[in-house]
Parts: sequence; structure tokens; C-alpha cells
Amino acid sequence: MSTYASTKKITTHILQEMKDSKEKISMLTAYDFSFAKIIDAAGIDIILVGDSASNVMAGHETTLPITLDQMIYHATSVVRAVDRAMIVVDLPFGSYQGNSKEALNSAIRIMKESGAHAIKMEGGIEIKESIERILSAGIPVMGHLGLTPQSIYKFGTYTVRATEDKEAKQLLEDAKLLEELGCFSIILEKIPADLAKKVAQTVKIPVIGIGAGQHVDGQVLVMHDLLGITQEFEPRFLRRYLDLYNDVKGAVEHYVKDVKSRDFPNEEEQY
Ligand code: KIV
Repeated sequence: MSTYASTKKITTHILQEMKDSKEKISMLTAYDFSFAKIIDAAGIDIILVGDSASNVMAGHETTLPITLDQMIYHATSVVRAVDRAMIVVDLPFGSYQGNSKEALNSAIRIMKESGAHAIKMEGGIEIKESIERILSAGIPVMGHLGLTPQSIYKFGTYTVRATEDKEAKQLLEDAKLLEELGCFSIILEKIPADLAKKVAQTVKIPVIGIGAGQHVDGQVLVMHDLLGITQEFEPRFLRRYLDLYNDVKGAVEHYVKDVKSRDFPNEEEQY
């Protein structure tokens, strides 16, 4: 089904080839060794060590609290597990918005200390200088436009972005700028499908969507959402492939029952 199934390492060049040959790109988040190993073995093209770790791993309400050190910890665990997928790591809130020198230092720390292959940053024109500086150090950058969760307190809600002309126009301009600067790919989060289609047709680099419809070059989801580990989160764009919350809960309930009833361990399960 994929021309690239036997490709040993996914690189920015392979991703560009995928877009050019109209093969859709698959991307999923991971934050730890064990899940990253499974996801890589399943043939995912890109693993994102997302700052959504702040939500699904640490239990924070937003992505803002996670630190650069914590992102590096997650990224390092993922890198140890992965053979084929390209690994992209989010620059966390506060590690790149201050100035471009700080942004470069943060990106260098991620690349040097974790061994990941690229970084992702939220924003357009407002972070132009930081993107330029990071790219000039030879670090591949993935952009992120639309609903950018690090700006949640500016937006006020997690609803669909760029439904109005002014914001849609700015988003398209930002996408063109990211391409011009040299970003290898752009994530579009929670924007109208028609706008996402226009962006994907306008820029030559791969555009990957989450809640951005089917006319982009690839799709990304948060692993915990896809596996049904998170329960309370029910956006329209999410397709759940498992009900892992209930499966795990059921298994643990069964174990508790077996321990309490002295069924576990039995004769064969002891020395
Ligand atoms: O942090 C994350 O998981 C993300 C995806 C939602 C794209 O940025």
C-alpha cells in the first residue's frame, strides 16, 4: 500500500517525495520508549514528541507548563526505540518566543541531547527570526499554524480557527512565509477543510493536518486519543481505533479480583 514501506529511514527528502507522488504521510505522537517502539514497528512515517505530553503524560490542562528538560527526557526515550520513523520534537512554550538566540539554544539542546531529527514551532511571521536562526544552524523545522495550543489563553477556546477571512488570509500568508524560510513541512490544526486544501495546493512542502480535512498531504493525531486512552476529549475530527481506557480498566479489575479471591497466583505461577 505504501511505496515507502521498506524505506529504512524517513527523512525530510522522503516526505517531500511522498507529497510529490501524492502518497499520504502518517504521523502520530509518542512520548515514551514502549509505545514509540510499537508505533515505529507499525510503519508510521513521523513520530511527534508533542508538547501534548503536558496533557496526556503529566495531566496538565494546557501545554504551557511542560519544560525543555521534560521534552528532552521524552524525546530521548522515543529516540532509543525508533528505527524508521522521522522524529520531530516540539519546542515547548517559553523556550523560543523570547528571542532568536534563546530559540536556537533550545533547538540545539533538543537535537544534541535527544538525537531527534527535527523540531516543531507554533506560529508564523511573529517567530520569523527564530525560525531563520534555527534553520541556519542546519536544524530542520516543522511549522504549526491554525489552532496553536501554546496560545490558548489568547484564543480563549479550542474552537476551529481561521473561519473569518482576515485570519484565513493571514494563515495562508504565514504558510507561504514558512515555506519561503525553508521549513520542511507545516502542521495545520483545526481549520476549515477548504482553507487547508488551499494551503496544501499553494505550498510545495508537505502539509499535515489535525482537524483540517482530507485534502492535505498527511494526518497527525495524539496517540492517546487514537487508542481511546483519553475519554473526555471528543472532537469531531477524532477517530478512535481502540477503547484502551476500558480495556485496561477491565484487565486491572480482573487482576484485583483474582488477587483478592486468591486465584492469582496459582500452582503453575509460583516457584
Ligand atoms: O503536541 C502535539 O501533540 C501537537 C499535535 C496536536 C499536532 O502539536
